[in-house]
Amino acid sequence: MDFTIQSGDLEKYHGDCIVVGVFESRKLTRAAKALDEMSKSYLTKVLDQGDMDGRANTTLLLHNVPVIGSKRVLLVGLGKEEEYAEKVFQEATRAVFKALHQTGVKDIGLCVADLIVKGRDAAWSVLQSTLLAEESVYRFDRLKSKREERQPSLQKIIFLIGDEVATAETEQASQQGAAIARGMNIAKDLGNLAPNICTPTYLAEQAGEMAKTYNLKLSVLEEKDMEALGMGALLAVARGSHQPAKLIVLEYCGQKNTEKPVVLVGKGVTFDTGGISLKPAADLDEMKYDMGGAASVFGILTAVAEMKLPINVTGIIPTTENMPGGNATKPGDVVTSLSGQTIEILNTDAEGRLILCDALAYAERYNPEVVIDIATLTGACVVALGHVVSGLMGTDEPLVQELLQAGEKVSDRAWQLPLGDEYQELLRSNFADMANIGGRWGGAITAACFLSRFTRKYRWAHLDIAGTAWKSGKEKGATGRPVPLLTQFLIDRAQQH
Ligand code: BES
Ligand code: MN
Ligand code: ZN
Repeated sequence: MDFTIQSGDLEKYHGDCIVVGVFESRKLTRAAKALDEMSKSYLTKVLDQGDMDGRANTTLLLHNVPVIGSKRVLLVGLGKEEEYAEKVFQEATRAVFKALHQTGVKDIGLCVADLIVKGRDAAWSVLQSTLLAEESVYRFDRLKSKREERQPSLQKIIFLIGDEVATAETEQASQQGAAIARGMNIAKDLGNLAPNICTPTYLAEQAGEMAKTYNLKLSVLEEKDMEALGMGALLAVARGSHQPAKLIVLEYCGQKNTEKPVVLVGKGVTFDTGGISLKPAADLDEMKYDMGGAASVFGILTAVAEMKLPINVTGIIPTTENMPGGNATKPGDVVTSLSGQTIEILNTDAEGRLILCDALAYAERYNPEVVIDIATLTGACVVALGHVVSGLMGTDEPLVQELLQAGEKVSDRAWQLPLGDEYQELLRSNFADMANIGGRWGGAITAACFLSRFTRKYRWAHLDIAGTAWKSGKEKGATGRPVPLLTQFLIDRAQQH
């Protein structure tokens, strides 16, 4: 989709459809008022007939509105003016695209200044609208033998910003939005792909394609390399699978070589059966999304490269299946990780932390400015936070705060959970330096505590995206989160330098 900014009067818009808001009940927004005046009170007449009263998420498409330049007008209900907020904006915008996709409209004019949410600016509206537009046309139909639905005809969005709003910021917001959306689509595609196709080998191939497209530096460690290095934890997870594990490193260099990179480590379990500690059958297919952290790293690097951000970013992706099998790791097995620390594997389903701990130790070699890992790590995080916010933990409080703020800014939120020595004790093992599980309670925290033991050499934070990386049920599908959060974090960092 194509996005442009147009300042000045609404009259200048001569496209397929102009979108304006109406509050409850029948209160025209400024843009709607302007159209109403131009069209000799046509909108007022329609509303007075009772066809629409401005309830949130309702829409009404008008054709041949007199005098105005646009072929159509789409009225969108914004609810009560005093209750108008972020969530209403998002739902209303979704309703707009849904209504438009029923029509043959190819381009629209969105009156941005009209839809500004309290505490947010026009740039926020533009960026969010861009993400919602791309979300509305996203389809994953490549595994269907024929495309079912009619494809949306919408191709171009013109943000009508009026005269008070600065073009430079909205222009930038629209470009950033487009890059983030591109990154989210990459992450969604990888997540949604069937796990017999999206294997560790496939991810390594995709990394190769990405490296070519964006001129990134790529290296892939094979199992024999991991053995030579001593990555006993990662290899322990891979043992039960016939698919070879990989450790993928992608380096984006937008700055001088001397500038330390932000290192992103993404959990890439392309299917998590639980291993010998086998998971129950219900919804097991969703464990194809257990590479959501890895997928987000691909997405973030795409967004960063699209924007040519002046910053160095390194993506590290440990990837494997977690399968049962004659050769699989057993509960009670003790392995030695790359860091030298030994681990008693009491539950083979706590595999994410095992592949991450070797990747985190490996990250030291890249001389990181900060390290952030992203993982669908624990069901406990979903119990704690649901599907709304991602779990955030870290040993570096300023870094955690920076991430929280970035999430707030793009409305891809995280919520901090504590880390502390009281929790560390739960990982005690009688037979090794630590166990890989910490018992029933506080599971998201003990998982992070486990990881923290491999991150002592640098500033570190951890995002548990188990509840936010995909949706279940009828709308099952990857969400593309937390690509917005982390891309925003990198945009802000690039700006500071
Ligand atoms: N990939 C899962 C976590 C998960 C479960 C994410 C459900 C989203 C939905 C992870 O590998 C796992 O199995 N974790 C275990 C840890 C436990 C054995 C300590 C869990 O959360 O049950
Ligand atoms: Mn597991
Ligand atoms: Zn897992």
